Amino acid sequence: MTDLSEFPLELTGNDRPMVSFRGISKSYGDLKVLDNLCLDVAEGEMVTIIGPSGSGKTTVLRMLMTLETIDAGVIYVDGQPLTHMEKNGVLVPADRHHLHLHLHRQRQRQRQRQRQRANIGMCFQHFNLFPHMSALDNCAEGPIHVLGLTKAAAIARAEELLEMVGMIDKRDEFPARLSGGHRQRVAIARALAMRPKVMLFDEVTSALDPEVTGEVTEVIRKLVGKHNLTMLMVTHQMGFARDISDRICFFHQGNIEEQGAPSELFGSPQFERTQQFLAAVNEAI
Ligand SMILES: Nc1ncnc2c1ncn2[C@@H]1O[C@H](COP(=O)(O)OP(=O)(O)OP(=O)(O)O)[C@@H](O)[C@H]1O
Ligand SMILES: [Mg+2]
Repeated sequence: MTDLSEFPLELTGNDRPMVSFRGISKSYGDLKVLDNLCLDVAEGEMVTIIGPSGSGKTTVLRMLMTLETIDAGVIYVDGQPLTHMEKNGVLVPADRHHLHLHLHRQRQRQRQRQRQRANIGMCFQHFNLFPHMSALDNCAEGPIHVLGLTKAAAIARAEELLEMVGMIDKRDEFPARLSGGHRQRVAIARALAMRPKVMLFDEVTSALDPEVTGEVTEVIRKLVGKHNLTMLMVTHQMGFARDISDRICFFHQGNIEEQGAPSELFGSPQFERTQQFLAAVNEAI
């Protein structure tokens, strides 16, 4: 079991990071995917993760969404440790005596996890809209059922966000009738409707045709600097990353090999592996 006191969050007030990975390790069988990762993201900061396939980029985002358990370390979001780590992947045996207490604790954890997840919005490479709901209902569903907003308030919020991503004209369309770029814009509006403190983007443009990629990157660009939203993005679009990020982290074998401001990391990478990766990416363009 990970002891929180081994990984305290020392900083308070304005210096406290919005997201803090402290000594995170994760293996799948013999494969070590994250190896003692430490990464802090400040409130309002846009951090982009780049790196070779299999270096652990998506795993980092999935951990923040509490979709993966952690073998060692602690992740703090807005000063709170993520709850699923308390179990550390070990299931508590539920015998008859303990079943009631266990179920109670499980429900408590579920509620806590739901609240924590509401702090974090995520958009994946493959659009994950509800297929049986219109664009508007996709955006209003979470605020009604998870946040407890009235239908009228949730619809007003959904309309405002669909307007922001340029999709208000398509409010009544179902996902099957929307293009990939449109779906991805609705997915961003849907995530924002939960008013998350942190937004995660995982290769949101990779499955799109090049001509609609710009529609989606424009929306992300618009979010930068707005509402103090903290963002963590994985992308293979180096030009876009360079333009909009405050910091770039180059991942290699489950850890940050090199990080810095975009001008430093892209302009004068210090480590050989970073140089090789960037050279290979440039060649592929
Ligand atoms: N559920 C799982 N079970 C077993 N192995 C997994 C699982 N999820 C991820 N992996 C492995 O962990 C490693 C890191 O995966 P991850 O998806 O984080 O990589 P990535 O950096 O996002 O790569 P890509 O650029 O291809 O998306 C890969 O080798 C992957 O095959
Ligand atoms: Mg990935």
